[in-house]
Amino acid sequence: MTDSFRFQHRKLEYKRLVPSFLSSHRTLLTLLWTVGFILMVAWQRTAVDRLLMYRGWGPPPRPIPKLRPLVLNLSDFGAVGDGVTLNTKAFERAISEIRKRGGGQLNIEPGYWLTAPFNLTSHMTLFLAENAVILGIDDESYWPLLPPLPSYGYGRERRGPRYGSLIHGQNLKDVVITGHNGTIDGQGRSWWEKYRRKLLNHTRGPLLQLLWSKDIHISDVTFRDSPFWTLHPYDCQNVIIRNVNILAPLSDAPNTDGIDPDSCENMVIEDCYISVGDDGVAIKSGWDQYGIAYSRPSSNITIRNLIVRSMISAGVSIGSEMSGGVSNIVVENLLVWNSKRGIRIKTSPGRGGHIRHVSYRNLTLENVRVGIVIKTDYNEHPDEGYDPKALPVIEDISFTGIRGQGVRIPARIYGSPEIPVQNITFQDMSVGITYKKKHIFQCSFVQGRVIGRIFPAPCENLDLYDDGGKLLRRATTQDTKDLDYDG
Ligand SMILES: *[C@@H]1O[C@H](CO)[C@@H](O)[C@H](O)[C@H]1NC(C)=O
Ligand SMILES: *[C@@H]1O[C@H](CO)[C@@H](O)[C@H](O)[C@H]1NC(C)=O
Ligand SMILES: *[C@@H]1O[C@H](CO)[C@@H](O)[C@H](O)[C@H]1NC(C)=O
Ligand SMILES: *[C@@H]1O[C@H](CO)[C@@H](O)[C@H](O)[C@H]1NC(C)=O
Ligand SMILES: *[C@@H]1O[C@H](CO)[C@@H](O)[C@H](O)[C@H]1NC(C)=O
Ligand SMILES: *[C@@H]1O[C@H](CO)[C@@H](O)[C@H](O)[C@H]1NC(C)=O
Ligand SMILES: *[C@@H]1O[C@H](CO)[C@@H](O)[C@H](O)[C@H]1NC(C)=O
Repeated sequence: MTDSFRFQHRKLEYKRLVPSFLSSHRTLLTLLWTVGFILMVAWQRTAVDRLLMYRGWGPPPRPIPKLRPLVLNLSDFGAVGDGVTLNTKAFERAISEIRKRGGGQLNIEPGYWLTAPFNLTSHMTLFLAENAVILGIDDESYWPLLPPLPSYGYGRERRGPRYGSLIHGQNLKDVVITGHNGTIDGQGRSWWEKYRRKLLNHTRGPLLQLLWSKDIHISDVTFRDSPFWTLHPYDCQNVIIRNVNILAPLSDAPNTDGIDPDSCENMVIEDCYISVGDDGVAIKSGWDQYGIAYSRPSSNITIRNLIVRSMISAGVSIGSEMSGGVSNIVVENLLVWNSKRGIRIKTSPGRGGHIRHVSYRNLTLENVRVGIVIKTDYNEHPDEGYDPKALPVIEDISFTGIRGQGVRIPARIYGSPEIPVQNITFQDMSVGITYKKKHIFQCSFVQGRVIGRIFPAPCENLDLYDDGGKLLRRATTQDTKDLDYDG
């Protein structure tokens, strides 16, 4: 029998055996096939995207603007954007050229550019074209180890050294990361899995970490699936982060904070969409005795026009590591949706430092469990060497224009006898609640005021003023904690 005959024969056999079954179920089968095919295509979307991109289909690419006198393309340094070739050397050669020539722009063209961690240099622009994806290699043996950050003393989750970040820089000036919404993808999934299975001997690395640097501008890029915190500017000045997307799974992506301004001064974070597996933004300044010794505050930071989702922690947090102090913070026009908490301040004895002059304006809370949380029992310490008498100060915190719906507990402000929350102000608050219990505005060891009418009714620990500033009712101290204790 020839092959072709065998094939025909089999086809005939098939026709003879199946037709009655087929005809009665043809519509159903066709439907199933179609659904199956669509599911398969959706599933393989990345693969399809890649195919389309390499064949040059889709809209023509936008021209890349020239932002610096020297412009280089990554592919000219031997890089291959196939998602498989390791391009670390190409990144290093290109950036070294930029360093030698006193600065320049490195274009990352459309493609999937796999790389191990690399370092940036001063006066450089990393420009990611539309459909350019920098992929971090997920084999930890390619990730260099760096010494602990001085204000942490530790890798953070592990003692000793820590993995560096995928994109790293220290002591730099004038660094721009921008483009046409290209992506920096940390491929965090295997890191999270190894962390859960306790297979890692060192703290995971962030996606982007800049240490002791200034004049940093990050805009119009997407960061996704960081192994650990996503953007970590540490002891930096003049940092702008604008119009970026930060994405990670909402659960099972441990410690994937969006942005962690850490001992930074003069910083703006605006117009960003953040949906991650931990805090959307968490302002920090070092951990217990190490942070107290390093003593660099985070201050003068404006966070505005963000949309954040966080099912594990909160939209915007301060702490828990805040031992160098956190002050002069404005958070405004923030929308937190389908999340565990809206805003959160977390600290504990041993931290020292202060959190003061923080104003929150125009917060919208859509379906969040606890709207505003301040708590002082975040007892996670680097080692036994912390000083339990180092008590943080929390004062001058104001909330103005708080809206929302589907909120279970609108406010939970729990100071403690040793760390009272002082001079807190609420004004113009009206939040739709889902939970008709009496004490849903929960307070203890808090001092401050409510101005005008707010909904739901505030706790009695606060003084009540009318809009004209006339005292209506003095606080009665009732330092009881509600038993419904869910963070
Ligand atoms: C970089 O690539 C662009 C097109 O993608 C091209 O126009 C430009 O000349 C290239 N620059 C260099 C230095 O090769
Ligand atoms: C990147 O910078 C870090 C910190 O300075 C250094 O330890 C590391 O060796 C650098 N990596 C490369 C490839 O130069
Ligand atoms: C940027 O990319 C992200 C992730 O691919 C996407 O969700 C977002 O819609 C894009 N934004 C724009 C403005 O194209
Ligand atoms: C962690 O350390 C153990 C014991 O030294 C070693 O066997 C293992 O390979 C290390 N794992 C990693 C991921 O480095
Ligand atoms: C605070 O930060 C903003 C934005 O970076 C800056 O314009 C302003 O000068 C800073 N203020 C101080 C006192 O440094
Ligand atoms: C309040 O914030 C929302 C976004 O959450 C924004 O749309 C609105 O314009 C802001 N209102 C004011 C008065 O700025
Ligand atoms: C209380 O905090 C507000 C800012 O919310 C500040 O303007 C005021 O001066 C503070 N009052 C005292 C007595 O420190």
